Order: sequence, then C-alpha cells, then structure tokens
Amino acid sequence: MENSDKALDTGAKRVYDVAPSEMFGEFMKTGWAPTPLEGITQDEVIAYCVNRRTELSAAFSGLRIVLPSGGPKQRSNDCDYQYRPHSAFAYYTGVQGVEAHPDSVLVMEPSGENHTPILFINPRSTRDTDAFYRDAKNGELWVGRRFTTDEASQRYGIDVRPISELEVFLKGGVAAALHGYDEVVDTKVKKHPRDEELINFVSVARLIKDDYEIREMQKAVDATHRGFSDVIRVLPAATQTPRGERVVEAAFFGRARVEGNDLGYSTIAASGSHACILHWTRNDGDVRNGDLLLLDAGVEVDSYYTADITRTLPISGKFSPAQRALYMLVYESQKAGIEAIKAGVPFLEINRASHTVLAQGLIDMGIIKMSLEEVMDPAVGIHKRWTLHGVSHMLGMDVHDCAHARAEQYRDGVLEAGMILTVEPGLYIQLDDELFPAEYRGIGIRIEDDVLVTETGYINLSENIPHHPDEIEKWMASLR
Ligand code: GLY
Ligand code: MN
Ligand code: MN
Repeated sequence: MENSDKALDTGAKRVYDVAPSEMFGEFMKTGWAPTPLEGITQDEVIAYCVNRRTELSAAFSGLRIVLPSGGPKQRSNDCDYQYRPHSAFAYYTGVQGVEAHPDSVLVMEPSGENHTPILFINPRSTRDTDAFYRDAKNGELWVGRRFTTDEASQRYGIDVRPISELEVFLKGGVAAALHGYDEVVDTKVKKHPRDEELINFVSVARLIKDDYEIREMQKAVDATHRGFSDVIRVLPAATQTPRGERVVEAAFFGRARVEGNDLGYSTIAASGSHACILHWTRNDGDVRNGDLLLLDAGVEVDSYYTADITRTLPISGKFSPAQRALYMLVYESQKAGIEAIKAGVPFLEINRASHTVLAQGLIDMGIIKMSLEEVMDPAVGIHKRWTLHGVSHMLGMDVHDCAHARAEQYRDGVLEAGMILTVEPGLYIQLDDELFPAEYRGIGIRIEDDVLVTETGYINLSENIPHHPDEIEKWMASLR
C-alpha cells in the first residue's frame, strides 16, 4: 500500500505530504487503552547467547565491538526486500524470526576485563508520538507492534536503548566493527586495525555448533524433508503447467514460509538438462515425464538455521536404466564422502573420497581413458569436467557458513566434532557433450545431505530423506 495521500520520500522516513493539523495530531494521541505486553519470556537461545558473548568479549578485551543488524534492502521505489538481519548480529543477540527489524545494532561496551552488551533498536512507537501512525518504516499502525526498550530488555536479557541514542553513544570512540551494513556505524566508527579479526572471529565462532544449533539444524532439515514431499505431490500438476519448474519452486516456498522464516537460499528447481547448470534459479522450464528433476532447496527456520538438501527425482516416479546407472555412481560417491567424516580427518578428505569414486566410475564407463592415479593428480583432474564443484561446505545460519574463515581454519583444516557440513557430489553431462553416449547427455545428478561431525564419525541429519533410487521410487509412489 502506498503511503496515504501522495507519498513523499524524505530519505530516512516516509511521511504524509500534507502535515496533519495540530488538532488531528492531538486527537491521535488520545483515547487509547494501554496495551502492555504481559509475561515476556526468554527464548532458549538467550542462555547460549550469554556464552557466545563471553567468548567474543574475551577475544577483544578492552575494545568496543559493534555488530549491526543491517538495514533494509530496496527492491524498487519504496518497496524493500523482506528483511533478514546479519547472521552475526542474530548469533550474539538472539534476536530472530519476526522479532528482527532493520537498523538494530549490538554494541559490546568494555567494562573492566569484560564487556557489557547494549542493544540499540527502533522501539515501539507509543501513542504519545506521531510516529505510530505516520512512520511507514517503523510505525505501529504500518508495520505492527514492536517491543519497547524495557520489553526488549526482558526478552533478550540485556540493556536495550533506542537507536536514536546510538550516534551520540558512538561518537569519538574507537571500536572494531562490521562495516558496510549500517550508515550510522560507518560514519561514526572509524576503521580499526582489528576489524578483519572481528569479521573472522564472528564467522569461525559458528564452525562448531552448540546443542541448540544442532537442534535447530535438525528442525530445518525435517521441514525441508516435508517441503520435498510437497514437491513430489505437485509433480503431476507441474508436468501439466507451462514453466512447471515454477510449480516446484512455489510448492517448496510454501513450506519454507509456513514452517520457517524463509528459504535459506534461492531454490534450484532444475528439470531435464537444466540440472547441468549449477545455479539454475530461473526455474522457468517445463517439467516432463521421463526427465529427472534436480531439486536443491532448504528451509530456513525462525532461528535462521538452514538446511541445504538436494535430491534428484525421476519426474515419472521411475528411473530409466541410464538415469539409474549414473545416479548409482553419484550415490556411491556420496556414501564414500559421508563415510570419510570423523573428527580429526582433513576437511578436504570428503572431497577426495567422493571424487575418487566418481573418477573411477568414469574410467569404468570408458569415458576417461587414464588410470585413477593419473586422473586424481591435482595437475590433471580431468574428471572435473563432469563434477564441476566442491563436495562439501559448512552449513548453519548461512548456507555457505563460516565464509570468513581463513584457509587453515576451514578448507585446509581438520574436521571437529560439532561441525555441520554438506556432502554433495554431482555428475553433470551437458547436452552437447560428445564424450558421453547420447543416452546420458542432458542428465545432471546431485545428492546433497547435511551431516554433523562427531568424535567417532558422523550423524547424517538428513538420513530420513530417501537417497537410494529404490527408496526414492517408493517415496514418490507413496505420495501419488
Ligand atoms: N544450494 C547451494 C549449495 O548447494 O551449495
Ligand atoms: Mn550445498
Ligand atoms: Mn545445495
């Protein structure tokens, strides 16, 4: 809805172009019953946030830390994209789901050896202001009731102040901050030599998941399982609808919004040879019986943890012999990758184990005419023509979690208990690939699961989502 009368964009706020009369302004302040929020409780994440902040504080003793939630992202004119805060802000505050609003900032203020956390928010616009009916971005009659600072303080267990006080608070102080997310932070906080260290710290802090995070990840995976079942149910309709991939995308999105906060990333609903285009998010193709559907999708739950699951499904409900042959190769490759997982094993071992199986399979099919040893030599690696991408990445609040870790902390590091990562080998035979027999061309297969590393091995959080072709055919038959 457009702002009443003719909208006037003043930059920070959109207001009526005709100022309300003084009488109207006074009238709007009267006649409202109090609406206090009773019985505010703390979410279970709050206790975890206390521990997380203690670790952050210890690493930056004596230095102010500033973690903005980020502002709204404009889609067009006065319409913004749905808001989602920076993961580090959510991780250290416990502000999540529908409670997160743009332009909040967590400041960790040094206090002796420790820090005192202070959360700056746009609080409830109470009825003694005119913002509650005039401010389209934050006003209660425009966007709904928010917490007062006292309510937010009870809810999050920390000191909460209005965001209008942030500028003065930050003035002249020295701080390590996340820059590029908040105008006030960027103008009031000078770049600090430890900014990079902060970016790295808040990213690698999430490498090892606490038990709350593991439970949330399992919720995300289970909701995603239901989303995949929703997609299977609509496949017959998708084959009857132009741009049937959109039917698939929409079915999964429904589950993400009904059960979760959103999608964790744009759904890849790739039917037929679209599966060979890795980031096929156009999803504007037809869905045809006889082809495969590669569906890579994840529900992000209210705490922002997301699943990242891929299944490759026969649209008719039955794999053809060529589809099944190639599928089994990816299946065995994924199994090898998952079975390599255990605390102490190099991260890259997952990739090596999976790719060894794929390369051997391509040799056995007569596609690669070299020994396994030769192919796997990093100076050769020609199997990558058909595998294209890495087999594993960290997963959590961001689909590619912990992205600011240094190589030795992640890619070249070893697995530790509590890490959650994907195992997602694939084979992609492009339509115009003359090195493969014709019946395989245009087939793309990926199988992706979300796996928790343990001291003795692993727990596959998505084990219950069928993987084997026989199980997939049964699953699909049961939903038709
Ligand atoms: N869906 C993105 C990925 O699999 O990494
Ligand atoms: Mn992935
Ligand atoms: Mn994926």
